[in-house]
Amino acid sequence: MSNLIIPKHIAIIMDGNGRWAKRRGLPRNAGHKAGINAIEKTIEGALNISVKYLTFFAFSTENWKRSQDEIDGIFDLIRLYLKNNPNKFQNLGVQIKHIGEISPFPDDLKHQLLKTEKETEKNNKIVITFALNYGGHDEIVRAVNKIIKSGKKEIQYFDIQQNLDTNFLPEPDLIIRTSGEERLSNFMMLQIAYSELYFPKVYWPDFDGKKLLKAIKIYSKRERRFGGITQ
Ligand code: FPP
Repeated sequence: MSNLIIPKHIAIIMDGNGRWAKRRGLPRNAGHKAGINAIEKTIEGALNISVKYLTFFAFSTENWKRSQDEIDGIFDLIRLYLKNNPNKFQNLGVQIKHIGEISPFPDDLKHQLLKTEKETEKNNKIVITFALNYGGHDEIVRAVNKIIKSGKKEIQYFDIQQNLDTNFLPEPDLIIRTSGEERLSNFMMLQIAYSELYFPKVYWPDFDGKKLLKAIKIYSKRERRFGGITQ
């Protein structure tokens, strides 16, 4: 454990729920349901080693192309997860946040999310961020439109950063995408400029604290140079 470097912010592209379910002859939503267990185990694992920020890509701007049945199933799972866990969030010191444009979501889901965010805003052990109706391109367009509305004629990168949904987060140190797919799918396009990338083969429902630790061990061996020279 001695050489372990704990990333401050880990962001996860949860992939493989559908294939996990198919392999078991189950409907796709059974895979998403199992994915919630993996989220819980991963949060517990992250708390054990003092990761401060953990972000989950839960619903992309492109996921609206899926069947209404699958979309409704994902919404139900998010609703239930937020509704069932207020005591756990308080006891573990979990702060819940979101990035993404949630206005197209059902009203009760939006209210539940905003209520949970308010109730957990003072918790400080870990910040759990769910990316919901999130896409990197959409986020950049919304940020630039906010700057245009503010009347600025010339900007620095800092102005863009301040207007991104992620303005309360440090940039991710480590991006994990499960299921063996090696792409970023419009996730945090600006914020991951210097992130380390890790693509384990495991389907998301089989991910847990132990696999998170393995990812961190691999991350700890990477040399981060941020464009500088080898030390
Ligand atoms: C990717 O697997 C998974 C998703 C697009 C949805 C993930 C959502 C959840 C686990 C629920 C979110 C819950 C909370 C609390 C925010 P896939 O369906 O693309 O898998 P496949 O590539 O094998 O088909």
